[in-house]
Amino acid sequence: MDNTDLEQTLVLIKPDALKNSLTGYVLSQLSEFHTGLRFAGAKIVHVSDMLAKEHYAEHKGKTFYQTLINYITGRIHYPDAPWKQRVIALVYMGPSAVSKIRSISGPTNPHSARDQCPGCIRSLGTLVPMKDKEGTVIGEYMENLIHASASIEEAEREIKLWFKPNDIPPLMQVYPVEESKEHFYFESSNLHTAYKAGSICLVAPGDPVWTSDMEILRKIAKNEPASDSLESVAAKYMINQGS
Ligand code: RTP
Ligand code: MG
Repeated sequence: MDNTDLEQTLVLIKPDALKNSLTGYVLSQLSEFHTGLRFAGAKIVHVSDMLAKEHYAEHKGKTFYQTLINYITGRIHYPDAPWKQRVIALVYMGPSAVSKIRSISGPTNPHSARDQCPGCIRSLGTLVPMKDKEGTVIGEYMENLIHASASIEEAEREIKLWFKPNDIPPLMQVYPVEESKEHFYFESSNLHTAYKAGSICLVAPGDPVWTSDMEILRKIAKNEPASDSLESVAAKYMINQGS
């Protein structure tokens, strides 16, 4: 395995693809044979608000932001069936993984995808009117079936946001990992190093943890400025916990 084999990217098969049973189609477009890439991780995720907001943090404040959060959490496609609100999260690995998957996915806007890249995955997406609380149409949002990391740097951030080290086979873990010697608990946006009633254990001694997560947790525990928020770490450890 040389360095080019180690490039990784995050894919999310979004709730519209699940609802329309396009998962098999999307996965066949992304098959190891077609892409020359390898599956390195896969999980079914009920996307919490915390995870959605961390994932799409760059879009905070934009007009479509809240709709985007409602979309990726599955609330738009399954408003009355929370148990069906899921995405499929995948890690792909291999030469030019980021650009290959972006290119098979196609342009963000499904109409542009159909014009510019017929046959790409997003050419099967659609534009949906976005309404305010009164039901007045205030724009459109894009149901585009798939998320794919936009750059190598974004891929690293996103893979570490969605996957713990041991969700990925050991020989496919490309980011530094260390074994925690400490306990860290999360409770109402606060971090504790000892159990408090109602808190959730994020990390226990012996757990393999992304080194960058450990650095963030240690700094926040000492009230020092950290490179990212507590939520950027906690969201992953709370995947599929509670509703
Ligand atoms: P993604 O992150 O989902 O892979 O999509 P992308 O990189 O191609 O596009 P990005 O700019 O990151 O936008 C993220 C998602 O937000 C929705 N969007 N709506 N109404 C709008 O103008 C608009 N712009 C973006 C899309 O669902 C897009 O996938
Ligand atoms: Mg993006």
